[in-house]
Amino acid sequence: MSNDLTKLESELLGEIAGAGDLAAIEAVRVASLGKKGRVSELMSKLGSLPNEEKKAFGQAVNILKAKVTDALDARKAVLETAALDARLKTERADVTLPVRMGPQAEGRIHPVSQVLDEVIEIFADMGFAVAEGPDIETDEMNFDKLNIPAEHPARQDHDTFYFNPREDGSRLLLRTHTSPVQIRTMVSSKPPIRIIAPGRVYRCDSDQTHTPMFHQVEGLVIDETTNMGHLKWVLQEFCKAFFEVDEVKMRFRASHFPFTEPSMEVDIGAEAIGKPGQWLEILGCGMVHPNVLRNCGLDPEKYQGFAFGVGLDRLTMLKYGIPDLRAFFAGDLKWLRHYGFNMLDVPTMGGGLSS
Ligand code: PHE
Repeated sequence: MSNDLTKLESELLGEIAGAGDLAAIEAVRVASLGKKGRVSELMSKLGSLPNEEKKAFGQAVNILKAKVTDALDARKAVLETAALDARLKTERADVTLPVRMGPQAEGRIHPVSQVLDEVIEIFADMGFAVAEGPDIETDEMNFDKLNIPAEHPARQDHDTFYFNPREDGSRLLLRTHTSPVQIRTMVSSKPPIRIIAPGRVYRCDSDQTHTPMFHQVEGLVIDETTNMGHLKWVLQEFCKAFFEVDEVKMRFRASHFPFTEPSMEVDIGAEAIGKPGQWLEILGCGMVHPNVLRNCGLDPEKYQGFAFGVGLDRLTMLKYGIPDLRAFFAGDLKWLRHYGFNMLDVPTMGGGLSS
């Protein structure tokens, strides 16, 4: 019996020494120590031996098993080192290659989305929070509460898209401006209020500088002391930060909105879109009308503030020299590749708005 074991031992150790790679060493392990391996099978013979032989045989098999295990481990370590050496010899990494961007190098951020991020950055830096409201509004929110009663001529100016009347005669509409978010904010939160509200607005209108859907950013500040000087300062600082210049050609014109008093419109020099000497209107603004405050449950004797509504698409045209507004919404990939932004160009006040 012990002769058999000696023979098996030298056979197995020979196989281990001869294993040329990790797969071969694994095969030897299974064939020897695996459940049905040759060493394991010896153990199952133990039961059939006469009692006096059991102990010696068991010990001998265990010694064999330990030797085989050690030999396997040692050989495996040698083979692993050799395999790693071989891999390192064939693999080469050129650490000077530029970072590969993958699919995000292909995609483009729409200029309006980029400009919205820029605008949010600037106003966030001045302490404004971002508010939102729905695109589908009621007459009440879009007009009545903003001091534009049913018979008011301003309703005509807005070229409103209406939905069919409901059972009770009321009609929903696509908001014609972001000003209803002023109302929603004043109704749902207490002053001091300092928000901007970006979003889509809709008017039945179309030419080179008008599209039926466009974007505005509403601004609203309400507290007990904010005055028109603050309004002009905020808008001037905004324009300087946005256009990334020390001085901006701005023109404040007296105007009229039912929800502000006094009201102004602001124009910017249109050089950037190839119209030197001409002006492009970018926003309306003014001090919030006492009736509007009252409609929102705020006491006009106590509270005051300003509001503004900026045309986001107009800002985009001016800053990035894009002449035709209609192209913004045509879904032309060639246009987007030309005017769009890389997704990693995230505007920040600290790092620079545009790169
Ligand atoms: N809602 C106005 C418009 O769309 C702009 C505006 C907003 C004017 C806030 C004054 C105050 O034309």
